Amino acid sequence: MSLSVSLVYRKARPDDWKGILELYNSLSDDDLYLRFFTFHKLTEEEARKIADTKEHYTVIAEINGKIVGEASIYFDGEFAVVVHPDYRRLGIGTELVKRLIEFAKKNGIKKVRFYTLPENYPMIKIGKKLGFKIIEREDEVYAYLDLTNENVILEKT
Ligand SMILES: CC(C)(COP(=O)(O)OP(=O)(O)OC[C@H]1O[C@@H](n2cnc3c(N)ncnc32)[C@H](O)[C@@H]1OP(=O)(O)O)[C@@H](O)C(=O)NCCC(=O)NCCS
Repeated sequence: MSLSVSLVYRKARPDDWKGILELYNSLSDDDLYLRFFTFHKLTEEEARKIADTKEHYTVIAEINGKIVGEASIYFDGEFAVVVHPDYRRLGIGTELVKRLIEFAKKNGIKKVRFYTLPENYPMIKIGKKLGFKIIEREDEVYAYLDLTNENVILEKT
């Protein structure tokens, strides 16, 4: 017997809100804190907002139809990413952030950045691997990647 696993990265669609809500319901309180800087449970309305990419760009990772990762970037360059606890350490977080950087380059966003807590080793590792400048403050980490020196292509995806 052979098991086939399909891992797909794609732009979120409005009807993904349910899968996004399920993904967020799988997160621990600590994960939610790392994502929102507050103990916050995602509401249906917020899930619908993430899936409806009018004010931001969202990419999702899907395994056999199940949403296991989500990353969103705003047009000011700030982004956040989450991966389902059962699917971590597989490179999905890194790949999602890479796709946000590609989107930023193609859409003239000059600097991409994220904020996290100093203990968020995996997120800081992703930043370091992808060339972000990491600024460690006492109670938060600010990281940015300057895209002004990159070969920016001004075209819509
Ligand atoms: C941060 C997060 C998105 C990373 O997702 P992921 O899919 O596990 O990321 P990757 O698999 O690409 O791993 C990134 C790196 O961290 C390492 N890593 C991940 N989890 C780790 C752990 N628990 N211990 C040690 N290393 C770890 C990986 O090995 C990898 O390094 P490598 O490329 O040298 O092997 C995920 O942990 C998450 O959703 N956390 C909660 C929400 C959050 O913190 N979001 C960030 C807000 S900006």
